[in-house]
Amino acid sequence: MATPTSTEWEYTQHTGAKHAILERYLKAWFGILTHSHKNLIYYDGFCGPGKYKGGQIGSPLLALRIAREQVLRITSKQSDSKFEKIHLRFSDNNDDRIKQLESHLQTEGSIPEKIEYRVANINFSSYFPKIINHLEVNKGTKIPCFAFIDPFGFFDVPFDQIQRFLSLDSTEIFLFFASDSLNRFLESKQDFTKEQVRKTLDTDNYEDILGSDENSQIKRKERIKNYYQKRLSEVANFLTKFSICDHHKKEIATLFFATNHPRGFVKMKEAMWGVDKVGDFRFVDSVDENQIDIFEPNPDLTPLKKILLTKYRGLQNINCSEIRRYVEESSIYLDKHKRAVLSDLEDEQEQLGFDKYFQIYNLSERKRSKHTFSPNVELSFRDVE
Ligand SMILES: C[S@@+](CC[C@H](N)C(=O)[O-])C[C@H]1O[C@@H](n2cnc3c(N)ncnc32)[C@H](O)[C@@H]1O
Repeated sequence: MATPTSTEWEYTQHTGAKHAILERYLKAWFGILTHSHKNLIYYDGFCGPGKYKGGQIGSPLLALRIAREQVLRITSKQSDSKFEKIHLRFSDNNDDRIKQLESHLQTEGSIPEKIEYRVANINFSSYFPKIINHLEVNKGTKIPCFAFIDPFGFFDVPFDQIQRFLSLDSTEIFLFFASDSLNRFLESKQDFTKEQVRKTLDTDNYEDILGSDENSQIKRKERIKNYYQKRLSEVANFLTKFSICDHHKKEIATLFFATNHPRGFVKMKEAMWGVDKVGDFRFVDSVDENQIDIFEPNPDLTPLKKILLTKYRGLQNINCSEIRRYVEESSIYLDKHKRAVLSDLEDEQEQLGFDKYFQIYNLSERKRSKHTFSPNVELSFRDVE
């Protein structure tokens, strides 16, 4: 899709996919953190006009409504919660879109006192440092901050700012790259755009990363995204990346989620796996060369099986809680997928009549039920291909 020039534009399927994930995650994020923190900051740095041409709501209104539901829920209970306020920060560098957003916000009905929002007409790279400064000054109080970074392309998101932000406790980013614009930016001959790409990737020689096979746009795009993933993984403890594709498996957008908290990481993955199908788009694990579909109700778990059998090959007495942690923190999968894979392997062994993959040790005095892979169970893996 060409970059829209009108104040509002059409709602696309990939916007629906992105919002579905954002909505599920924010429900968990506000829900959990309002119980444990006084103040939370949600920052939408490329917030847009708040509504699409067809009337669908944009990310700022989505966040506001989820925050409001949570505040009403928490204040309706007689609780001794220490929660004080959700601070919503919306910025966009387009004057008309900001005016439009302000007018939509006016008609949103009553906003609880415990929600405070501000709207700024400013470039992302000028506003983000203000948020980072605030978090740095208040470092002692550990204010959780979620930054939604949703540009039209690969523009004005300097890596040094991302790095500073993620070096703080309780910060996370959810970042979208629209793939078509990525290529446009990478191929630009304009010095200004080249400088932007350099800042985004934090390297002086991104042309080297792009490589020389100029005919293969897809490979070049992949290399850049892999490079960006590598840089992000150096500054955040947990990172996931996947693509949103059309039904021909043509990539429409790439999404990165980076956080320093294992719980946030698991919650985001639960949000992703829980998203209902939106139209005919599909999520694809772009790390996998076969581009398997993910976030399906019945996904192909062959990659996870391979991952587990390789990781634990020949290793003895591995507690299932360690396997759970590994799966949850180092892959796109959840605990339920780990259980499904290990259960299948257990069934296969039973049919074969010997322990082809692992021996199972029950640490509990109680009899172990089949397909139970709890912390009371250890596995000793065979040293086989
Ligand atoms: C993909 S749209 C955002 C959509 C919105 N987040 C949503 O989900 O409803 C990108 C927005 O970024 C704005 N924008 C473009 N360059 C910007 C920059 N350098 N700083 C801030 N906003 C920018 C555009 O005006 C546009 O509204």
